[in-house]
Amino acid sequence: MHLIKDNSIVVTKNQYTAEEFIQKKIDLLKDEVEPFYAVDLEDVCNKHIRWITLMPRVKPHYAVKCNDDINVIKLLAYLGAGFDCASKGEIKKVMDLGASADRIIYANPCKQSSYIRYAQEVGVETMTFDNEQELMKIKQIYPNAKLVLRIVTDDSNAVCRFSMKFGADMNTARKLLDKAQEIDMRIIGVSFHCGSGQMTSKAFVDAIQNARMIMNYGNKLGFDMHLLDIGGGFPGNTGTEDYFAEISAAVNQALEEHFPDDGHIKIIAEPGRYYVASAYALATNVIALREMVDSETGNLKYMYYINDGVYGSFNCVLYDHYVPEPHVLTKGDLNEKYTTSIWGPTCDGLDCINKSIQIPKLNIGDWILWKNMGAYTISAAVQFNGLPYGKPIYFMPKHFWDSVKAAFQSIPRKHQVDTCIMRLNSCDCSNEVEDDMLPWIPEDFIEEAAVVTSQ
Ligand SMILES: Cc1ncc(COP(=O)(O)O)c(C=O)c1O
Repeated sequence: MHLIKDNSIVVTKNQYTAEEFIQKKIDLLKDEVEPFYAVDLEDVCNKHIRWITLMPRVKPHYAVKCNDDINVIKLLAYLGAGFDCASKGEIKKVMDLGASADRIIYANPCKQSSYIRYAQEVGVETMTFDNEQELMKIKQIYPNAKLVLRIVTDDSNAVCRFSMKFGADMNTARKLLDKAQEIDMRIIGVSFHCGSGQMTSKAFVDAIQNARMIMNYGNKLGFDMHLLDIGGGFPGNTGTEDYFAEISAAVNQALEEHFPDDGHIKIIAEPGRYYVASAYALATNVIALREMVDSETGNLKYMYYINDGVYGSFNCVLYDHYVPEPHVLTKGDLNEKYTTSIWGPTCDGLDCINKSIQIPKLNIGDWILWKNMGAYTISAAVQFNGLPYGKPIYFMPKHFWDSVKAAFQSIPRKHQVDTCIMRLNSCDCSNEVEDDMLPWIPEDFIEEAAVVTSQ
């Protein structure tokens, strides 16, 4: 059985949900059990539209570390987003995919010297810092850099906190501005990050107010402080839409109060999970199971072993404090539920995805679907024990493809990446068409070959 080529986009005649798409692929590839993601790029686009609608003054710079998938980067570059890069590798990747240097902020306050040199070589001017040693280092390597001072926030209500590692407190921030003036470095603004998975809009409001104070101080020293970077931390799972709207309203109001639009001030943000979390649904296969009798209750209980785990896509369980929720795709009885644990495929005992949940009984070969798996999953996954983790398969309906295809076709020749566009002749009513879909051979389905070779 042939697999879809890497980076292929399946363009469907009809609109599918990720669940429907996954079910179709499973039905078609009966013997193929490798884990895969159904990636809904239209969802990424809808997130962008919602962002610019709800926070029109705040230009998003997608945090590439969250998920460095080339098709997400291509789409966001096409839609006009900027990028937050944390390293030489991310800067190179984003620029290779067609984004210009002025759309990038190098938002890592502690950088390797050779990466600062690289940023200079390729023209990425804007970068963050939060301590004197970094300031002196940048002065030596890249004296013309445009610096953004990262201040500390109260991130006690965030799922992943950063303030123990990054950010200058208010006193230190003022001293850093004094030092920058003394050594003639250019500070253009202030940034902060309220923690990833921030649970209160107040954290953003307080940080905006603190940023204003530091920017006022900088202006008094003679700096032209015109960039405010409100970081990441915005929610991205399905079901968090109202909370995102609440944060947006609070941010807009705080900006209005402290940073009224004077035509000079520029506001940016570094959202990561907001853009990608809900766009990725992961399909995993049950490769082994163990049936046991609970010694206390006498009831049957189960352990399932699936083919992606905490060293692969589910590293978010360890690093991102994520609690994934299984959706079982079994033809068995869905009514009766059993105490269950779900484990990854490696030989390590730490490789556990769910310790104890109630789900229907599954069989070897059944599939489990995991929604909201786009953030901090693939980007930190490894093939521990030689085991692969979920591979993305992108899908979108024809009408959406027609409006964004230039995103995947207009990469300058020097930036070409192997992307192949496929058409899925989908129609739910006829067996012939179902047969038509069976092979998934690129040559049979290529509608338009966007960019085919890399240099
Ligand atoms: C500097 C910086 N900006 C942005 C982000 C993205 O955060 P989130 O995915 O919560 O939006 C991170 C996450 O680690 C970060 O460290």
